[in-house]
Order: sequence, then C-alpha cells, then structure tokens
Amino acid sequence: MKIGIDKMAFATTDQYIDLTELAAKRGVDPNKYTIGIGQDRQAVVPPTQDIVTLGARAAQKLLTPDLARRLSTLIVATESGIDNSKASAIYIKHLLGLDDYVRTVELKEACYSGTAAIQFARGLVALNPQETVLVIAADIARYGLNTPGEVTQGAGAVAMLVSANPRVLAIEPTSVSYSRDVMDFWRPLYATEALVDGKYSTNVYIDFFKNTLTRYQQRTGRELADFAGIAFHLPFTKMGKKALEAVLQDRTDAVANRLRDQLAASQVYCRQVGNLYTGSLYLGLMSLLQNGAVAAGDRLGLFSYGSGAEGEFYSGIIQPGFATALSDIPHDLAGRHQVSVAKYEQLFNSQLGMRAEDVQFDTQADQAPFVLAGQKNHQRIYQRR
Ligand code: HMG
Repeated sequence: MKIGIDKMAFATTDQYIDLTELAAKRGVDPNKYTIGIGQDRQAVVPPTQDIVTLGARAAQKLLTPDLARRLSTLIVATESGIDNSKASAIYIKHLLGLDDYVRTVELKEACYSGTAAIQFARGLVALNPQETVLVIAADIARYGLNTPGEVTQGAGAVAMLVSANPRVLAIEPTSVSYSRDVMDFWRPLYATEALVDGKYSTNVYIDFFKNTLTRYQQRTGRELADFAGIAFHLPFTKMGKKALEAVLQDRTDAVANRLRDQLAASQVYCRQVGNLYTGSLYLGLMSLLQNGAVAAGDRLGLFSYGSGAEGEFYSGIIQPGFATALSDIPHDLAGRHQVSVAKYEQLFNSQLGMRAEDVQFDTQADQAPFVLAGQKNHQRIYQRR
C-alpha cells in the first residue's frame, strides 16, 4: 500500500520587506544578503498573526467538507508554541470547525518536527488505511533586529494531508534519522528570539546531511543518480547549496548538474519568504514540484534538519496527481505588499510575546481569514472572518 503526502498548501503573511532595503539600513552590501545568504524578501509578521492563524490559513486552502470529515488526527509541528501546555492544534481545530472526535497534538524538535509528524502520520495510516491525518508545520523565525540571524528570519505554514494512495508523494520505507545533543540553536523559556551559534550550526547541518545520506545509501544501495532532485530544509537558500556541494564537491557530470538545477527550483519560494523552520523543507518540496523538471515516477530525496539537533534523510516517489494537489503559491506571493524597514521594525516590536496583561490589537489592518485579536484574562482571542 502506498502511503504519503496527498495534498499540500502554503500560507504566509500578506507583507514583506525587500532585503536590499534592509541591507542599506544595516550598512551591509546587498550582495551579502541576496548572494552570500541567498534571500531576496522576508515575510513580515503583524501582531495579529501567529502560528495558529497561519496554520489555520494553510489548512483552510486544502480542506474540503469531505476531507474534513475524514480526518482522524491533526498534528501541529512547531517551535513557536503559543502556550507551554495547551497545544496550538486545539486552537486550529476550533478555528477550522473540525469534528470534536479528531485527535489533536503538538510536536517539537526545532525545525525537524514537521518530518516527525509526517512519519508518525504514516504510521497511523499504516495501522488504519482509512485514516487521513492533517499535518501542519507552522513557525515564525525570529532572531532579533540587527543581529546576524536577522536576514534569515521568515514566517509561514505548510499544511499536508497524509493518507493511503497519495496524490503528491508516496513515501518510501527507508528513512534514516540521526540525533545528537548539540547547542547550535535554541530558545530558552524566557526568550522570544532564538539564540544561535550561526557558523557552527551550518557545519552541524552539513555533517548531519552527509551522515544520514551515507547511511541511507548504504541501506538502499542507491546512488545520487537515483534521485531526480533533493529537497532540503532551507533556513536560507545558501544553506542547501552548501550541503549539496559538500557531497558533489567538484563533480560537473550530468547527475551533479541536474541536482544543482533542481536545488535552484526548490529555493524559489524560500528566497521570497525566509525560514519557516518546521515548514521550510516542505515549502522547498512544493517549490521543487512547481518549478523543477520533475515528473510522476521520479524519486526525490528529502533532508530534514532541526537544531539541537536531529536530521533525517528519506525519499518518495512523485505521484501522477501532484500538480493539481498543491496550492497556488505564485498567486499568493504576488498578492503580498511591501512594507518599509521602519514598519517592519515597529511590527517586530509589537508582538504579544511574553506580555501578561490584556491586549487588544487593531485587526482592521489585517485582511487575513484568521487573526489574533488580542489577549484577555491570560487567554488568546482568535477570530475567523
Ligand atoms: P554572518 O556572520 O552574517 O555571515 O552569518 P558571513 O559573514 O559568514 O556571510 C555569509 C555569507 O555571505 C558568506 O558566504 C560570505 O562569504 C558571503 P559563505 O562563506 O557562507 O558561502 N558574503 C558575500 N557574498 C557576496 N557579496 C558580498 C558578501 N559579503 C559576505 N558582499 C549566518 C550568517 C547564516 C551564520 C547567520 O545569518 C545566522 O546565524 N543565521 C541563523 C542560523 C542558521 O540559519 N543556521 C543554519 C543551519 S541550522 C538550521 O538550519 C536550523 C534552523 O533552521 C533552526 C531550527 O532548527 O529550528 C536555523
């Protein structure tokens, strides 16, 4: 029985900054951001958006009344949790109007947990092939104004249905996960921005990619030539290039060049949005499917990485219905509007964050289908338009 990703949808905020403007404000050569890091635009998050509103927006794009009725489980993968106890999945379930007999849970391991959610969902479907599981990978990547990590911020959510007879990607049985206690990136309970040892984190990422790919190749006997393309977790687009080049080295043969071209196709949307943490690999997969030279029957490799750290390399076969089972990302990105760096800084500092008092946000400026209206009696107030 084939099990895998049946449908995918992406949502981000409606505003962005141009990173050449950010470079000018920070006194940095714009080529450092656009070439050295490989990012052009970055999603800007108003205080009325968080992982619940973004996750609900992504899921709303793929749910039909019939699919909603068939859901057994909703798993939200995130490292931008909005409560230390209650799962964001419960808020999202409520906003989407899902049945109360749906299991709802939140998973965490930095950027990796979206992949854990997919593998767990795959297990649920293997136990009961009638089940459809909704996985939402939603995050807001925050490092702080005027920090080296600032250019690698971003925000958004990818919603995915995992089922039998999938239309997008049938996941193959062999996957290799690898975890080690590493302090490359973390966020203490008292902080709203991540702490990071940036250069070290890029080296750990590459090590984990090489380790998991090598073990996958030993277990399956497959070569790089067996992949039509590889999708990477993309904290910034240059990271995927660093990892791929670490295994290609100076190869210039047709296989190496094909993987380079497919990597470029997988980076198109990340360049416009930034790091989605848990969702980044899956936005990269959607980008590869929509912009790459791929066809049904092709095998794709997927490398997932979460700081702390955990990596996983797995693979899947593209299914015939893939093109019609993905949301229209170019349309959504074209509908965003640019804001100034000053506006971005003001919005960055207006988040609910760790505040304990009652807050009422002005929701008029945000036309998104779901908004965070504020906080009352220590409870977050969400609205569905
Ligand atoms: P930095 O100190 O700003 O960068 O930090 P740099 O000085 O090393 O420059 C970056 C690149 O720009 C270099 O290229 C420069 O040569 C180049 P590289 O050597 O790396 O190929 N450069 C230029 N290129 C063209 N024209 C110029 C120019 N000037 C310089 N004029 C860093 C960069 C990524 C470390 C920082 O932004 C950071 O700390 N980001 C956050 C951490 C991160 O994203 N790490 C990635 C791996 S860990 C991961 O993926 C997990 C994560 O998603 C979290 C999770 O799991 O939850 C982050």
